[in-house]
Amino acid sequence: MNKRAETKPTIICISSGKGGVGKTSFSVNMAAALSQRGKQVLLIDGDLGLANVDVVLGINVRHNLRETIEEGRDPAGILVEVAPGFFVLPASSGVPEMANLSYEEQIFLTNTLEEMIGRFDYVLIDTAAGIGDSVLWFNNWARTNIVVLSPDPTSMTDAYALMKVLNARYDRKEFHLMVNSAQTKKEGESVFNNMSLVLQNFLKITPSQLGIMPLDSHVAKAIRTQKPFFLTFPDSKASKAISQMASALIAM
Ligand SMILES: Nc1ncnc2c1ncn2[C@@H]1O[C@H](COP(=O)(O)OP(=O)(O)OP(=O)(O)O)[C@@H](O)[C@H]1O
Ligand SMILES: [Mg+2]
Repeated sequence: MNKRAETKPTIICISSGKGGVGKTSFSVNMAAALSQRGKQVLLIDGDLGLANVDVVLGINVRHNLRETIEEGRDPAGILVEVAPGFFVLPASSGVPEMANLSYEEQIFLTNTLEEMIGRFDYVLIDTAAGIGDSVLWFNNWARTNIVVLSPDPTSMTDAYALMKVLNARYDRKEFHLMVNSAQTKKEGESVFNNMSLVLQNFLKITPSQLGIMPLDSHVAKAIRTQKPFFLTFPDSKASKAISQMASALIAM
């Protein structure tokens, strides 16, 4: 047995409450950054939304997770390798809505996922917006919870609602906040500080700051080319921020 098979991967869930704040952009590029440092990374797409991971990376899905489970095939066969060491479990391959699964099916899915992730160093989960069942399930399954914020005030309200539920239901107390689309470092810091104050006052939680990602036109440009900006525009401000956060995650 090699070392990797003996140690569990680090499972990191990326959520925000509010939609459109940059969960998918962050997840895809963080996965690219970690794999570039020699890590084996699996990105699970927990959201079949408009600009989901399939679309952002131009992935064509041939096999379906449910079919694979039912036919007893190796579920690893539905993973797509988009760059060396960077694998995706696409949402369109049937990552299901937990609410639509029976208890037995949920157990079966959990076992299948647990088996699938064994050979990876990092598992990142890009969740849907909101605080639906699958968002909560993935956050509870993960050991590390990243919450993406933006300077938009409603982003703070929605992120608070998410963390409040995770705290009440699963006793989660550790949250890593990532402020996206900051016009200046100062703006990013102030978003982080405001969110921290609210969490301390109402939930007695002290979050940690994973990082601040600047507003950068390369992010949208890369989406149009269906490649991670981290690979296409490695010198962009956004890529530098991702690189710093990758170091922080590895050091955790
Ligand atoms: N740092 C940034 N600078 C500029 N544009 C950004 C940045 N981060 C994200 N965007 C843009 O914001 C939009 C939404 O980003 P993204 O799809 O990653 O958000 P999301 O949280 O995954 O959305 P959803 O909730 O719909 O899944 C995209 O068009 C993306 O290009
Ligand atoms: Mg998304």
